[in-house]
Amino acid sequence: MRNPSPQTIYLKEYRVPDYLIHSVELNIVLDEENTRVVSKLTMERNPDCDSENIALDLVGEQLELVSIALDGKALGDKNYTLSPESLTIAQPPQKQVFMLAIENSINPKANTALEGLYLSNGMLCTQCEAEGFRKITYYLDRPDVMAKFTTTLIGDKDKYPVLLSNGNKVATGELKNNRHWVTWEDPFAKPCYLFALVAGQLEIIEDKFTTLSEREIDLQIFVEAHDKDKCGHAMKSLKDAMTWDEKVYGREYDLDLYMIVAVSHFNMGAMENKGLNVFNTKFVLASPDTASDHDYENIGGVIAHEYFHNWTGNRITCRDWFQLSLKEGFTVFRDQEFTADHTSRGVKRIEDVDLLRTRQFAEDAGPLSHPIRPEAYIEINNFYTLTVYEKGAEVVRMLHTLLGAEGFRTGSDLYFQRHDGQAVTCDDFVNAMAAANDVDLSQFKRWYSQAGTPVINASQHYDEASQTLTLVLEQQSSSPEPLQIPVKTGLVNKDGSVASIRLDDEAAANEITLQLTEDKQSFVFKDLPQKPVVSLLRGFSAPVKLNMSQSLEELAFLLSYDSDPFNRWEAGQKLASEIIFSLIEDIQQGRSLTLNPILIEAFDNVLAQDWDDLSYFSLLLALPDEGYLAEQMKVVDVDAIHEAREYVKTKLADNLQLHFSSLYQSHHKDESGCFGKDAIGRRRIKNTCLSYLSKLETQENHHLAQTQFQDAGNMTDQIAALNVILNSGHPAKAESLESFYQQWQDEALVIDKWFGLQACSPMPDTFARVQALMQHPAFDLKTPNRVRSLIGAFSQSNPVRYHAANGEGYQFLADQVIALNELNPQVASRMVTPLTGWRRFDEARQDLMKAQLERIMQTENISKDVYELASKSLA
Ligand code: PHE
Ligand code: ZN
Repeated sequence: MRNPSPQTIYLKEYRVPDYLIHSVELNIVLDEENTRVVSKLTMERNPDCDSENIALDLVGEQLELVSIALDGKALGDKNYTLSPESLTIAQPPQKQVFMLAIENSINPKANTALEGLYLSNGMLCTQCEAEGFRKITYYLDRPDVMAKFTTTLIGDKDKYPVLLSNGNKVATGELKNNRHWVTWEDPFAKPCYLFALVAGQLEIIEDKFTTLSEREIDLQIFVEAHDKDKCGHAMKSLKDAMTWDEKVYGREYDLDLYMIVAVSHFNMGAMENKGLNVFNTKFVLASPDTASDHDYENIGGVIAHEYFHNWTGNRITCRDWFQLSLKEGFTVFRDQEFTADHTSRGVKRIEDVDLLRTRQFAEDAGPLSHPIRPEAYIEINNFYTLTVYEKGAEVVRMLHTLLGAEGFRTGSDLYFQRHDGQAVTCDDFVNAMAAANDVDLSQFKRWYSQAGTPVINASQHYDEASQTLTLVLEQQSSSPEPLQIPVKTGLVNKDGSVASIRLDDEAAANEITLQLTEDKQSFVFKDLPQKPVVSLLRGFSAPVKLNMSQSLEELAFLLSYDSDPFNRWEAGQKLASEIIFSLIEDIQQGRSLTLNPILIEAFDNVLAQDWDDLSYFSLLLALPDEGYLAEQMKVVDVDAIHEAREYVKTKLADNLQLHFSSLYQSHHKDESGCFGKDAIGRRRIKNTCLSYLSKLETQENHHLAQTQFQDAGNMTDQIAALNVILNSGHPAKAESLESFYQQWQDEALVIDKWFGLQACSPMPDTFARVQALMQHPAFDLKTPNRVRSLIGAFSQSNPVRYHAANGEGYQFLADQVIALNELNPQVASRMVTPLTGWRRFDEARQDLMKAQLERIMQTENISKDVYELASKSLA
């Protein structure tokens, strides 16, 4: 049974801490099953605290208390009380600084939750964000308590030759019994969620970076021995990120040493611990034969993200966890821009918006919808969401759009200047932006408290006599007062040229950002001798749903002529979506299907052009994702969506096969190991063509896929070919899957792909295959990457098979959630997501999903994590 009813924490109940911690001295004797922690805290009553409460409440979980002393005197058990989650000292000194010494022990080996101190392939490592430090020792585990840490690690020389913690290494020494010790000192005060330690047999890759002010920084990446040759890209990305942050934000690194450790068992992507980032191996390790182009880009983005946190997160941190988007939204925006500057800006924007609209919009439309600054939570780990991260980044991006690049930089400079060394709020951030630019952003702040995706309804009227076009924009959202929404707009003449925009008395411009600040507003564009086509919400300038009726012809026109790369792609997506939706209706009504030739023509047009940016070209040829289509339906019909989309894909392949074949041939080169934009683009367009061609199921195309699979010298090509083989009637399916496994069985990250590919297959035997894979010797419920690659991929990326009408997918998922609940609540709770959107489906599926959620609610010892998601979904 669970706790009677887990407690809800509210933003409105925030109080400053009763006590402060000035410094922490940790002495940690490492052992797999019995690690000893001695913590000496220099503390003081918080002068800003006006609470009557005198008692000092420290939090701690799964700790064995050994002893406790106050100012050098052991405390008897009458002077403190212990509960499973706290240690309370009744009467600490009120007037002076005091020293509290606590000794406790912990068992890292038993820690399968991967929070606190745990074991990964024999290595000891920590994960403290958000509230994991309390599983290491008793503490004031909240981000507004910032202290200086000095950490001494003691361990066996053979088992733990490398001993790491935050800051600078200040002393080392030897002990008897083959043990040694290292002392680390972090000169920057920090909250305990940024504490880290790592101990193990690790290999080191080293480099150097010289900062703008000519300080030399040592860069070190630590990995297991067999991965030593896969760190080059991560190291290069780190140096690129350091250079970029100096150039774009004027921010230099502040310690003399920057360390990254790659671990195989990790709940998330990576963690920005001060001076000692801990990474999921997935976001560090890459070699051309084991990692795809996509992996390379993700590694660059995550390395940059964690590096950027040093300023946006560490030097300035969050006052409380409701402010999580302060560091995450801003840092995601920074990493998106970093990637845009190093790859293709248009492509990056499209991919980010795609993720937002497919996943974040779904979250925002479901029972777990919350503002980017939530107002209440049961378990904070449940709020590391797409909303806080991705929508949070969109809100920061809107500020960038409103203030311009320069204004945004002036604002961020002021933010750093005002708040360096502090734990602050989202309001502090927006206030700095407003003050630096002398603008009023009070209306803009509503974005921080509204949940759900706002809608803009747009209509237009062209008046020939006055040569004006009137655009009416109407907004709807959960916010009681209207939001401030930047709507980037352009006009395109019938011949494809830019129509200049003249609004009121403003000077003519090629593009304008309309400020929608009222519920309903009209904008009148003057001097338009002919009716232009409107290109609205360019670059996806706000995270909203835009309703504007446009004819298929207009969409096809914009696909050919819009000068905004995002909107050009968007026009194609809308065109394809409309056609797919009308086919879905045909399927539902039992009518026969035909493909509207306008789509074939539009694709033909795209295919006939010469493209510089082949990745962008590939995106123009991609049909909207099934998840994105589902997101737009009142009652989701996964089968009809899949059937209609496959039909369109096959028809396009049929009609345009000459284009696809010749493009394939001209771009199929062996450029393994080349990661320039052009080589990546060639692989991408070629594999897009291969995927279309596979729909034709000809011997010739089967042969093409098999040859590519066998000859590939890089993972992008190999996995793309395997995917095509697996999802067609290819005769060599079983043997290809087997040979891939044999080839890569020692590379965990490649085997994750092998599991993932099979889990995502829409073929009818997938569910049986997934069940069999659960029994595969390489599957392990204790390794989050494996869980995500099999259970996560199946339930989140395979709508037709997961939503099987008989409910087998739902039952399977609930079984796994229940099994994971005790092992790893964070991962278990992430796996619940595909059950939470049950209201969007037909009644039969609703009942089946609900029944599984109810079964999950009955889980013995249900964790707060799973309880919060399941109960809120049923409410
Ligand atoms: N703060 C990490 C990041 O976004 C994510 C994270 C959260 C990692 C919680 C582990 C635990 O960079
Ligand atoms: Zn982050």
